[in-house]
Parts: sequence; C-alpha cells; structure tokens
Amino acid sequence: MGKYYQTTPIYYVNDAPHIGTAYTTVTADALARWHRLAGDDTFFLTGTDEHGLKIVRAAEANGLTPIEQADRTSERFKEAWKLLDISYDDFIRTSEPRHYAAVSALMQKAYDNGTIYLGAYEGLYCVSCEAYYTEAELVEGRCPIHGRPVELLKEDNYFFRLSEFEDRLLAWYDEHPRGVIPEIRRNEALGLIKGGLRDISISRTSISWGVPVPWDHEHVFYVWYDALINYVTAIGYGVDDERFEQWWPAVHHVIGKDIIRFHCVYWPALLMAAGIEPPPHIAAHGFLLVGGEKMSKSALNQITPAELVPTFGSDGFRYHFLRDQPFGPDGDFSYEGMVARYNADLANNLGNLLARVSTVVGRKCGGIGPAPNPESPIAGVAEAAYRDAAAAWERVAPSEALEATWRLVRETNAALEAAEPWKMDPGPAVDAVLGDALESLRILAVLAQPAVPRASEEIWQRIGLEGAAADQRVPAAARWGGYPGGLPVRTGEPLFPRIAT
Ligand code: MSP
Repeated sequence: MGKYYQTTPIYYVNDAPHIGTAYTTVTADALARWHRLAGDDTFFLTGTDEHGLKIVRAAEANGLTPIEQADRTSERFKEAWKLLDISYDDFIRTSEPRHYAAVSALMQKAYDNGTIYLGAYEGLYCVSCEAYYTEAELVEGRCPIHGRPVELLKEDNYFFRLSEFEDRLLAWYDEHPRGVIPEIRRNEALGLIKGGLRDISISRTSISWGVPVPWDHEHVFYVWYDALINYVTAIGYGVDDERFEQWWPAVHHVIGKDIIRFHCVYWPALLMAAGIEPPPHIAAHGFLLVGGEKMSKSALNQITPAELVPTFGSDGFRYHFLRDQPFGPDGDFSYEGMVARYNADLANNLGNLLARVSTVVGRKCGGIGPAPNPESPIAGVAEAAYRDAAAAWERVAPSEALEATWRLVRETNAALEAAEPWKMDPGPAVDAVLGDALESLRILAVLAQPAVPRASEEIWQRIGLEGAAADQRVPAAARWGGYPGGLPVRTGEPLFPRIAT
C-alpha cells in the first residue's frame, strides 16, 4: 500500500472562503478520495495562513486582534469545508504551537547550514500578495496580480541564499520532468530559475505577528516562509521523525497558478537548504474567473459556497467545479452553465438512471434486484470507464475522469432505452437488462465517489448493498460482476432534483 499525502494551499484569514478557494479544496479532496479508493494510505491536509501584514491590517479594520481575526476566519473555512464534505484529515493553523516548533526547527537547520545571513532590504511591496516586486514586474506601477499600488518598505532582514541554489534546482527539474504539472507551469518555474535568482528576504522586524526567528527574537519570519513550512509541520517535522519520513516525500501539492514562484522555486530551495528532499508532485491550476475577472474581496465579485449549496447540494457544487473547469487553464464561472450541467449530467443522467432502474425493479422484479450478466456488452464500457477514469485521476485531470465515468452513465441509460424493460413482461429478459443496469450503478457509486460522495452512498444503499461506497477498493470494486443480485432495491426521492431554468 502506497502513501499518498495531499495538500491544499493554506488560505489567508483576511478573506472568507469563496468558490475560488473552494475549487482548489474540492479538487484536492477529490484526489484524496480517489487515492483512498485506490487503496493508498492517504493523508489530506488543509488549513489557514494566519500571519503577516495583510492579516494585521484586516484585523485592525475589523476592530479585532490578529488572533481573533484568525480564530473567526479559520472557523469560516472549516464551516465551508464541512458544507462541501471535504474529507481532510488535519486542518493546520499557522498560529498553532506545533507550527512554531516546526518553523523554528527547519529554519535553524537552514541557518546552521550557512544558507541564511543578515542584510538590509529596500523594496516595493504589495500587501495583498505579501510579496516584494521589482520595478520590471509591476504593471503600470502597480501589483501585477491585484492591480493595487505597491509600497516602498525598508528594513533589516535575514536573507536566504537562493542565488546559490540555481544549479541544484535546475538539476532537480531535469530529474523530475513531471515534478510540476501542467508543462506550462513547469516551464514558468524553469524560466524563473534560468532568469537568475537573487537572495530573498525571509524575515521582518516591522511586524511582530509571525513566528520569531529562533536565533534573533527581534525578527519574525516573513509570512510566506512560515506558511510553506505548514506542509512539513503537519506530518511531524522536527518532532516525530519517524512520522515525517513516512509521509515525505509522498506529498502532492495542489496550488493555484498565482503561487508558482513560492512553491516551485523558493520552497524546493528552502527544503534543500534544510537537507530535505523537494516536493516531487506539484499540480497548479488556473483561475476561476467571474465575468472574465479573478474574484477578489476588492472587486466585490466573490461568490461563496454557501450561496450555491442550497440550490445544487454539496455534490452538485463539487461535480460542477470538478467537471466544468479542466485542471490547468483559467475558466469562467457562470450560474447558467452550472444549472445546465447539473440538469444534464446529474438530474437527467445519473439521477434518472437510478430512478428508472429502482422503479422498474419494483414493478417487474418484485423490488428484488437481479444479478448482472457476466457477458454483458456494458461490461466493456464499465471496464473502459474505470481504466480511463483511473488514468485521468492519476494525471490530475478530474474533468476527464468524470467524463470517462459518465460515459458509463450514458451507455447504461442508452441500453435501457433500447431494451425498454418497462414495456416487457416480468421474466428472464427483464432481469437481464435490469441486472446489468444495477451493476453499472454499483460501479458508478464507486467511481463517482470522489466527486459526488453523498449520491454515491445513496445509490449504494438504494440498490441494497451493505457497507459504504467509500470503503470500496479499486480495481476490485470496479470489476464487472460484483452486484450479487437478490438484494432489495428501494425507490426514493430524486437524487438530484431538476433545477428550473
Ligand atoms: N496563503 C497563501 C498560500 C500559502 S500556501 C503555503 C495564499 N492564500 S490565498 O488565500 O490567497 O489562496 C490561494 C489559493 O486559493 C490559490 O493558489 C488558489 O489555489 C486558490 N484561489 C483563490 N482564488 C482563486 C480563484 N479565483 N480561482 C482559482 N483559485 C483561486 O495565497
């Protein structure tokens, strides 16, 4: 059994969760669920990034202390993730003592290895990014991400000797051709490295809301270098070496394209400096846009999960973002598009399949589900659905995985429409058609589980199976022939009630 460690970025606590942060988290959750199904020993981490100037300012604006701001907002993230059935194993907050311990241990190691020194820094700073920019990186004198004015900051800082890591980083990328996916993001990271790396400032004296530098308490670490370390804190770095070595480097980072530089250049170098192997799997997705623009607090275009879940359900929300937004490029969110896909794929296709099968089993088979035909033509479709979905999940392409899975939904519906068992008399011919459809539903409950966990369990139970869809293991559970027949099949409320347009 392999180890699989899934992470999300940890989210800033100045801002409440919205569909952008939810998109990342749902994607990571679906990947973690897939790996659990595939039998990997899986650990899934998310959390909140709580230090830095941005949080201090947000707290001030709300009349709160930084920790009060962090307490409140981290709760909001937990609530949102509960609403979306996010199956995280641990939720890390960077204000926790365990995190201070790990940051101190890792940075002390890097310091002892001679990779950190004291210097003076003056630069143009974007508070929203919590990052310095060079003149050249600005767009019309403003932050290239937020379009906000930058501020000139000057202070004594500790610096990390990033410039000395160019060759090692390039060698690492050479040895790990799929270390960052998609390719365009890998090239972006390589471009940054080849463009020449300057030492980076990693501490601040102008602010006290952060993790103190262990060898100089005048300083706190700059928020990004504290934040990145969360990924090793949560698996026991510096405290429990055995645990740490179990999960590292089995790590799989999912990030947005906005934080490539930190994850694909600075983070690997910092780990090298502390004598730790860089993360070998980083997958970076594009932005979810609303009306062509990135959602942000200042643009007032944020949509929250809580606004959509009452209409679409947690499953409908999850399915939409996994299926509709291919992992990698930017995508535009549209409410109309969400309704259309929900009605087509969930209400009409999957929901209708379950409704039809359970109703006809009730009428023609006395409510007892017949066994499938081992030689059914749908067996091959199911096999292909599994094979293609598994390959797509492995290459972090949830949209393609679901497309492959839904081919089985469509083919099973098509087979029912061709045979029209509702018009047949009870007997072996009806049993043969319905047995195959029930077997498709069983396999679908397994394969769709990463996207629509609630519906999967509902299908599992309605067709009379014991246990839970989430406890099944592929490939065995995806193999044709697992539905035993002779089980009571229940009808019930529509799985995905149609949404009026
Ligand atoms: N705190 C840092 C990350 C530290 S990780 C060690 C941060 N936080 S954030 O709250 O700004 O969230 C960043 C992540 O949220 C992005 O990388 C992305 O995954 C996700 N998204 C935020 N807005 C998004 C969209 N509009 N679209 C897609 N993803 C979005 O950066």
